[in-house]
Order: sequence, then C-alpha cells, then structure tokens
Amino acid sequence: MGRPRVLITGASGLLGAHLMVALSRRYEVMGVDRHSWWGDEAVKVLVGDLESSEFLQQAMRAAAPDILLHCAAMTNVDACERDPARAYAANAALTRELVRALPARCLAVYISTDSVFSGDVPFATEDDAPGPRTIYGRSKLEGEQGVVQATDHHLIVRTNFYGWSSGRKTTSGEWLYRALAEQQPVTLFTDVFFTPIYVVDLAQRLVRLLAADAQGIVHIGGRERLSKHEFGRLMAELGGFGMDRVRTGSVKDAPLPAPRPRDVSLNSQRCARLTGLEVPEVRAGLQRFLADRGRPLTARVTVDAAGSDTPVVRRHA
Ligand SMILES: NC(=O)c1ccc[n+]([C@@H]2O[C@H](COP(=O)([O-])OP(=O)(O)OC[C@H]3O[C@@H](n4cnc5c(N)ncnc54)[C@H](OP(=O)(O)O)[C@@H]3O)[C@@H](O)[C@H]2O)c1
Repeated sequence: MGRPRVLITGASGLLGAHLMVALSRRYEVMGVDRHSWWGDEAVKVLVGDLESSEFLQQAMRAAAPDILLHCAAMTNVDACERDPARAYAANAALTRELVRALPARCLAVYISTDSVFSGDVPFATEDDAPGPRTIYGRSKLEGEQGVVQATDHHLIVRTNFYGWSSGRKTTSGEWLYRALAEQQPVTLFTDVFFTPIYVVDLAQRLVRLLAADAQGIVHIGGRERLSKHEFGRLMAELGGFGMDRVRTGSVKDAPLPAPRPRDVSLNSQRCARLTGLEVPEVRAGLQRFLADRGRPLTARVTVDAAGSDTPVVRRHA
C-alpha cells in the first residue's frame, strides 16, 4: 500500500503552499491552483480554475485523493461584500461541487474562518452558534454546510492566520510588516479582536490533526486575544520598529465595504487536546514570522514537519 494521497486546493496560496511542503513528507501530495507553484520544493501542482467543472473532474481523476484539503477561496472580505454572487460561487458553490466529486471514503477537510461568528462572544468554541455578519462569513459558512451535508467524513477548521506568501497578493500580515518597517502612516483598530496564528504553526497542527484522524469542527488560533492595534504593537516591538506613525482608530469610524465583527477570537483547546500541542503564544509566532522573512518555504516548514513525525495520541473529542 502506497502513501495516502492528498489533494490541496489553493496550493499556491498562503496556507496551501505551507501545507504542500508540510504534508509532502508523509503523503502523496498534489495541488491545484489558478496560479503556478512558487515554492523551492519540487511539488506537483495542476494549474487551472476549479470553477470549470471539466478542470475539477480532471484534477479529481489525477489526484484520486484519500484526503481533500480545500484551501481555495475568495478571501478578500471587502471584495466579497461588493460582489456577493462571486463570493457565493467561489466559497459555497465550488465547495459543494468539490465534495460531491470526491471518491468514497475520502476525508474532506475544509478551511473555514473565524468570520463565521458574529463577533459578540470572545473565545468562541466549536459548540458556539455561528452568526456571520459579512458576505465572506456567510459564504464560508455555506461552504461548511455543504461539506457537512455531503459527507460525515469531514474536518472543518476555523482559523485566522498570517505569514509570508508568494508576494503576488499582499496578505494582511505582510501589509502590516511593510507599513511598520517602512514607517508608513497606518491606523490600527483598538476595538477589533482576534486570535491570530502563524501559518507555519497552523500547518503543523493540521498535519497532526490528520495523523490523529480528527473529525468534526476544530478551531485553530493563537493563545491570546489581541486587538489589531495590540498585534501591530507587538510586531513593532519584536521587529524593533517605531510606533510613531501608527495611529489608534475605531472600526466605527472606518468606511469599509464589509463590517468588521468586534471580537472573533477563537478557543483552540480542542485542537490542543487532539494534537498534543499547546495553543501557541502570539508573541512566539510573531518572533518566528519575523525570523522567517526571506527564508525559502522549505526552511520555514522543515522543523514543524519533523515535529509532526513524533507519535500523537489518537483520540476523538
Ligand atoms: N488568510 C487568513 O487570515 C484566513 C483567515 C481565515 C480563513 N482563511 C481561509 O483559509 C483558506 C486559505 O486562505 P489563504 O489566505 O491561504 O488564501 P490565498 O492566499 O488567497 O490562497 C488561495 C488560493 O486559491 C486560489 N483559488 C481561489 N479560487 C480558485 C479556483 N476556483 N480555482 C483555482 N484556484 C483558486 C487563489 O487564487 P486567486 O488569488 O486568484 O483567487 C489563491 O491562489 C481560505 O479558505 C480562507 O477562507 C484565511
């Protein structure tokens, strides 16, 4: 029997790329993305648009997966708010199509978001009821529901992360880093809270969850609940950047297309129980993020992939 086969959608995106590397040591991994592969490890990535059912079927035949890790999505919350039809097609309809096309017994892992919550309850657990306030959150929740309806054999991961991407798009962590490092004027909210996790730590936990055969819903975030301003201040402190050009602001005064839920912090204790890994401190994650700047993808992920080979307790919570 060969190694289990994994299909990763959104393979050239921020999370997908880290997963391609983290999983390739244990699994037969194939990726799909609209954009070509950019990492330093030689991996198999089919380039095309999964919203074309012909391409989707072709990818499914080529991968014949035992595990699907569905990371591809329309992730820009303001773009989703401006174009709901596009958002539902990209996040809900595509997810339904994908899970319907899966071979029998394939585990469907869906990467969801803290934005499925209303933002009224701090440290939301997996048992708390979602109540998204944005098109992005609603379309991702519909994606979750599509997975649950299609198969019992699923893992839904709600998260919020930062890291170094291909650079094709500027992710929020990279935007913040650049603003602080280049001393650009920036306003950070003091009244929007989250529990961010470094993408490498997230990938490591996902590897462990797969090894533990975890199913159901699992939240994966950082340990502390921080405002966007506190997160920026911590990055500035650790990076040795001044805060002179950083202004505090309120989300109430920001004319953004999509409303920002006030507090989407996640309780990640279930993940800690299942993986045997403590919920990571935000400070430690940010230190690694800063140290990893400019390093090739494989150098960032190697340590964690090795760590994932240590035995884990098999347990269903
Ligand atoms: N980043 C965060 O903080 C965050 C927070 C919570 C949840 N998430 C979830 O985590 C997952 C991964 O996020 P990420 O930040 O890694 O996203 P990302 O960097 O935008 O990567 C997603 C990749 O998938 C591609 N893609 C999207 N639709 C596709 C399609 N129909 N066919 C082929 N490729 C397609 C994207 O191309 P285009 O760029 O051209 O669309 C992009 O390369 C998403 O499901 C997102 O909702 C992210």
